Parts: sequence; C-alpha cells; structure tokens
Amino acid sequence: MLRRLTIALLAVAVVLGAYVYPRLGDEVPEPATSIEPARHARVAVFGATGLVGEGVLAATLRDPGVQIVHVVARRRTPELDAAVATGRARLWLHTDYLDYAALAPMLADVDAVYWALGTSTWNVTNEEYSAIHVDYPARFVTAWLAARGAQTPLSFHLVSGGGTSASAWFHWAREKARAEQTLFQLAQGTGLRVVSHRPGGVLREGARARWYSAPLWVLKPIKRAIEPTGIGRAMLEVTARGPQVPSSTILENRDLLRYANGYRVRTGR
Ligand SMILES: NC(=O)c1ccc[n+]([C@@H]2O[C@H](COP(=O)([O-])OP(=O)(O)OC[C@H]3O[C@@H](n4cnc5c(N)ncnc54)[C@H](OP(=O)(O)O)[C@@H]3O)[C@@H](O)[C@H]2O)c1
Repeated sequence: MLRRLTIALLAVAVVLGAYVYPRLGDEVPEPATSIEPARHARVAVFGATGLVGEGVLAATLRDPGVQIVHVVARRRTPELDAAVATGRARLWLHTDYLDYAALAPMLADVDAVYWALGTSTWNVTNEEYSAIHVDYPARFVTAWLAARGAQTPLSFHLVSGGGTSASAWFHWAREKARAEQTLFQLAQGTGLRVVSHRPGGVLREGARARWYSAPLWVLKPIKRAIEPTGIGRAMLEVTARGPQVPSSTILENRDLLRYANGYRVRTGR
C-alpha cells in the first residue's frame, strides 16, 4: 500500500516537474543595490548536527567568501569532523545554551549567526520546547550584543517555520512567534539585524535522502518546501545584502527560495 502510494506520488512529482515547474519558474529577489560578502566572512552555525543545520553548514563551506565557520554543537559527528578538517570550521562543544560565557572568543569573532538549533514538539514537554526555542536564542543574542557592543553591524538568522503565528492553536507555532518577536525586540536600536526564516517542508538531500521522502520534492515547485542547503544559500544572500533586508523581516518559504535562487544566480553555487 505504502509502495503504491509512493509510486503514485512520484508520478505526480514527475508531471509537476515536467509541466508545472517551468511555468512557475525560478523566482529571484529584487536586484540588490549592493552586496557585501564580507558580512558573511565570519559566521557561526548552531544545530549543525541536524537536518537543517547540516545543510546550512554545507552551504557556508561551499562559499569561498566564508573564511571561518564556528560550529557550536553538543556532540561531535563524522560530518563535523570533516568540516573541521577543511581548516575553515572550528568546533565548539557546548552543552549549556543558557550560558555563553565559555564561547567568549567566538562571540568576539563572529559577524553572522545561523541558528538551526531546535527540536520537534513530539520530543519534549511544552516547557522544554519554550526553553529551547525562545530562551536559548534570546540568551545567545543578549550575550552576543553585550560582547560586541550594541552598534556593531551583526546579523542573526533564526530558523523558524511555516505556520508560525502568535494566535495559532499549536503551542509550537505560538512559541516560534514569541521567539521571533523576542529576538526582534532585542535587536531594536542596535546594529543587529534579526531575520526569521520560515521554511515550509524541509527536503532531505545528500546522505540524508531516503526513498520515502523523495515524493516530498513535489512541494518545491509549488514553493512549499526547500532543501537545507537552499536555506543556507538564502541566509548567505540575506546576510550579504545587509540592511536591504532589514531587521524584523520574516521570510516565508517562497521568499527563501527566491533568495536561494538569487544567491545561485549571483555566485554560480
Ligand atoms: N525538519 C523540518 O521539516 C522543519 C521544517 C520547518 C522548520 N524546522 C525547524 O528547523 C529547526 C531545525 O530542525 P531540524 O529538522 O534540523 O531538527 P533536527 O534534525 O532534530 O536537528 C536539531 C538540531 O538542534 C540541536 N538540538 C536540539 N535540541 C537541543 C538542545 N536541547 N540543546 C542543544 N541542541 C539541541 C540538535 O543537536 P543534537 O544533534 O545533539 O540533538 C541538532 O543539531 C527547528 O527549529 C525546526 O522547528 C524544521
């Protein structure tokens, strides 16, 4: 039954890929008035052992303009060791995400932070979900601003999620909205830009690809999903565009696809 359903979905994906995608086309963002790749020369990735963060890390390492990626994780993996072996990534093993004192040299060095740390609502209690998605990034941003001075031009990129809403029925959706608003407020009146990235579905790619997840790629042409490296490309593009994407901007899945395409067209990657 499952196999039949998968085959049917694959057929739909092929039809959409062949006929609908060319019509919808790859969208690109507004032309940039200026691009400053130096803004993403020194970056940090949180959550790099996860589906989204791994793709974001891969995108940063593919960009020769990224000189150093500080990877903050609570465990090492062969993928992270391989990243460190490139000589452009530094691994910080860190367990307390309410306290960043041990990361002082990283806070002093990094100009853009890509935050893909998070979990499913199924894995934790509501209280734990709130701590992970609201308190962890808020404490980080507070510590970062304190370390760098309020007027330093910095950018923080939150991986939020499609369906986020302060009036949602689901606890996770309300808490993601609270995280966005908390971070936007922390950035007000400072040199920090906080941008929220709300992917719809996240597509498995590379070593994480599975046969059963292949049909989900049908969601990409209709702009409802994006692959993790696409999120990374979008983050790099938004970082390089500086204040053209101002603080408190919320990017929905379709916007992420646009910025990822903009990055690809501009850089060829
Ligand atoms: N996957 C999707 O379809 C999807 C769609 C929209 C939005 N998102 C959002 O994207 C974010 C990342 O999701 P994902 O799918 O990449 O999740 P994932 O594969 O489970 O990865 C989560 C990452 O966060 C870390 N993490 C989780 N709980 C932590 C804790 N208590 N302390 C420290 N680190 C912790 C994990 O570290 P360990 O490896 O050590 O556990 C891992 O690096 C989440 O906020 C999620 O809501 C995901």
